[in-house]
Amino acid sequence: MDCLGLFILLMLQCFQWTTAPAAEEVSWTYTGLVGQSEWSQYFPDCGGTSQSPVDVVTTQTKYDPSLIPLTPLGYSQHGNKPFTMYNNGHTAVIELPDWMGLGGLPWLFTAVQMHLHWGSGGPSHGGGEHTINGLSADAELHVVHYNSELYPNMSTAMTQSDGLAVLGVLIVTGEETNPAFNNILNYLSRIRHADQKVSIPAFDIQSLLPKDLGRYYRYNGSLTTPPCYQSVMWTLFNERIQISKAQLLKMETILYSSKANDPDRMLLQDNYRATQPINHRVAFASFSAESGKELSSGEVTAIVIGVMCGCVGLAVIIRFIVKTIRFFTLLHRESVVVNRMKEPEKEKEKKQDMALNPTSEAEKKEEPSPSPQTEP
Ligand SMILES: *[C@@H]1O[C@H](CO)[C@@H](O)[C@H](O)[C@H]1NC(C)=O
Ligand SMILES: *[C@@H]1O[C@H](CO)[C@@H](O)[C@H](O)[C@H]1NC(C)=O
Repeated sequence: MDCLGLFILLMLQCFQWTTAPAAEEVSWTYTGLVGQSEWSQYFPDCGGTSQSPVDVVTTQTKYDPSLIPLTPLGYSQHGNKPFTMYNNGHTAVIELPDWMGLGGLPWLFTAVQMHLHWGSGGPSHGGGEHTINGLSADAELHVVHYNSELYPNMSTAMTQSDGLAVLGVLIVTGEETNPAFNNILNYLSRIRHADQKVSIPAFDIQSLLPKDLGRYYRYNGSLTTPPCYQSVMWTLFNERIQISKAQLLKMETILYSSKANDPDRMLLQDNYRATQPINHRVAFASFSAESGKELSSGEVTAIVIGVMCGCVGLAVIIRFIVKTIRFFTLLHRESVVVNRMKEPEKEKEKKQDMALNPTSEAEKKEEPSPSPQTEP
């Protein structure tokens, strides 16, 4: 190869380096050099105006009665084929079979994968991505689906505004072990390092979801990791699910974001993004604040007393009205008697009127009435 050829080749290489979207190559993190506040320099969508997660301020949500309960399709029909779970350096991802999907949305959505976000400080130290009235959960589960009615696959759908539907489940810490979560947690020790992969026994994915699938928040947002495409129809369930403290600690401390051959081990922790401005967006609620709320005994007492007071008040008002009517009826009778005595005078006045205007009645009758139009 001559010098000119080499030169041109080099120039082409240079050209590629400067113009190629290196974004996919950038290894982003949650803190540090390519931490979340720097994401938008490498992934422009991360600086968009419809980003996720958000803080759902319940008093600013809008009740939308058309938001019907979601129906997980095939979540419980897992069959015998194992699921694949892997550590991608950012989270643990479980690939989902394509017969799983979501009903109750404007299009049919097909399941792709689910993953988790968590913190590092144990219970009540954050880890969830979405917050409700500023309150953080300890972790969050995302079940990702793509619009299989409009798009052929996940990679095409993820860049479209109506491409994805993600279920967000807030996870908090309680006393009891959540057996459904052990279907995942029991196998994390097999994928401690980034890029490791394991087959896990199939299990009922619906058992990870809250029982109440009818009460949720809906808003338009984005992927919560680079490239942050604004393609997600979010469903954030109102009901939180519980796992035990031991389960949370396992999730927080077992995985590494570094690869197996990397001498510097980096724990995979605090893989949650800060809440993003809601901007022009409205978060809709499938339920109104009052409906279905369970009443405490105090509230029941208050309502009973309120109703009784209302009844007594109503009785008093009715009694007052009846009395008032009676009073005016009496008054009217008296005035009728008085008027009767004045009657003869009135008759006299009328007769005088007639005498002055003898033609008035007759003229009125003569007034021409508009004759019905006839068709030519
Ligand atoms: C997704 O579909 C598009 C369009 O049909 C196709 O070009 C692309 O190769 C597909 N991607 C995958 C990962 O299957
Ligand atoms: C999301 O965006 C689409 C298209 O702009 C709009 O029709 C829909 O009502 C939005 N949904 C919500 C929940 O805001």
